[in-house]
Amino acid sequence: MNLQSFSVNALLLLGLWHTGRRCLASAPELQAQPRKIAVVGAGIGGTAAAYYLREQFGPGVKIDVFEPGDVGGRLATVKIGDHEYETGGAVIHPLNLHMKHFMDRLGIPPRRDVPSKMAIFDGKELVFEESDWFIINFLRLLWRYGFSFLRMQMWVEGILDKFMRIYQYQQYSYSFSTVERLLHAMGGDGFLTLVNQTLEEAMMAEGFSQVFLNDVVAPITRVNYGQSVRLNGFVGAVSLAGADSGLWAVDGGNKRVCMGLLYNSKSELVPARVTSIAIKARPSKTTGTTTSFYEVSYVGQSGSAHSLYDIVVIATPLHQGKSDIAFSGFSPSVPSHYPGRYHQTVSTLVHGTLNTSYLGSTQLPSEFTVSDVLTTDSKGAAISSLSSLDPVHVPQGYRRPPASRPNVWKVFSQQPLSQDQLRDMFLSWDSVSETRWLAYPSYRPPHRRTPPFILHERLYYLNAVEWAASAMEMSAISARNVALLAHHRWHRQAAKIDQEDLHTRLRGEL
Ligand SMILES: *[C@@H]1O[C@H](CO)[C@@H](O)[C@H](O)[C@H]1NC(C)=O
Ligand SMILES: *[C@@H]1O[C@H](CO)[C@@H](O)[C@H](O)[C@H]1NC(C)=O
Repeated sequence: MNLQSFSVNALLLLGLWHTGRRCLASAPELQAQPRKIAVVGAGIGGTAAAYYLREQFGPGVKIDVFEPGDVGGRLATVKIGDHEYETGGAVIHPLNLHMKHFMDRLGIPPRRDVPSKMAIFDGKELVFEESDWFIINFLRLLWRYGFSFLRMQMWVEGILDKFMRIYQYQQYSYSFSTVERLLHAMGGDGFLTLVNQTLEEAMMAEGFSQVFLNDVVAPITRVNYGQSVRLNGFVGAVSLAGADSGLWAVDGGNKRVCMGLLYNSKSELVPARVTSIAIKARPSKTTGTTTSFYEVSYVGQSGSAHSLYDIVVIATPLHQGKSDIAFSGFSPSVPSHYPGRYHQTVSTLVHGTLNTSYLGSTQLPSEFTVSDVLTTDSKGAAISSLSSLDPVHVPQGYRRPPASRPNVWKVFSQQPLSQDQLRDMFLSWDSVSETRWLAYPSYRPPHRRTPPFILHERLYYLNAVEWAASAMEMSAISARNVALLAHHRWHRQAAKIDQEDLHTRLRGEL
């Protein structure tokens, strides 16, 4: 016997011993694991949920993911000429550890980085233009805003430090039953206050000036969330973290992660729209008791059908215009739509030549190298931002064309752009592709309450987290939380749910 086959045998024995033991332990309760789980929605939340549910419940459970549209949801690309371009969720923060983990796990590389240059437009002219030199930017900001800029970075860093605690909690399998408890576990009462006041209030209380908020902070919240500094302080801080350096995206398009997670989780994609979810009771032959199931009804190309599930995870916003699912037989009842609405952001991709005079620039277009134009919150501001877009796969040796040449530009606005507006912004164009997104919640603190993660015994709602902040990583965190919650509640492990003071308790375990 050579060493290799010996070790294989040893492993087999070890495996048998392990499974043998598990069988013994679970013998009295034969239906220890759920048999079927439904996930409604195949965006980043739904596909990450499928991935984490597989991790929690093992290979035996059947996972069906319902999606009437494209896999990826609000991560989407459009083709212009020979290349694909990102039209939805665009950037990922370097400390977004779940997104990083997915990339490693799926073997997808990050997109090649192309240097960018930012400017701020007040509706008439560029009031700030980033230089290629760090020290010049620093001095310009210092001159205008004193140390506000540095203080802002420190403020955001303090919030980010607390935010990062969630990764340790999840590593140790802790889960939370509401968004408020999850936030509280990360940042205590401070985080709850933050979601319940505007970014403006939160920053003014920290001593930042109105001028700084208008000139620097508002352009950042506008480009990320299409809204002013009056969105909630938590999503505001997420937004400001999004102005950090080192942001990245996925080679070939961010939606590739969703496809990869779906495949990796060995879930089945059901290309259908879920129309209703109802509770059905079925007597169990083995135990003689009655067990309840969720009956999911759906409409696909081959007509309508329904199926029974042990666990259901809703991974699409339960809001007007986003989904329309009827919940029947629930007590207390589950609404099809929660209060609050989603904010419209129109993403217009234009392949054309920019009119640099529109931005009040007197530079020669061939020397105009600004790639990202942010805007202040001025009256009548038609656009939220304007950026030069690189393809989702950046070829080696790629260089972004100067403004004198045709290029792909992405304009974010709240309303669709009129022909007149396009004619103002561009000297000429050969294609325009418009996507109207209901992109993220319209954030208006103070909050009543965020929707719950738990809609019913084994029915979960992942997108509740978007009311704290909507981002790819937030959905991934929520997906893992919901998978853990579903697992612990199934196996009645209450000690892993809603534990207080985890931060101090886990410090000892490091
Ligand atoms: C937010 O504030 C409102 C009113 O000020 C209050 O009723 C509500 O409970 C608060 N919500 C949270 C999550 O603290
Ligand atoms: C470019 O923008 C300027 C300023 O908005 C405008 O006056 C001009 O008509 C535009 N040029 C073209 C060719 O559209």
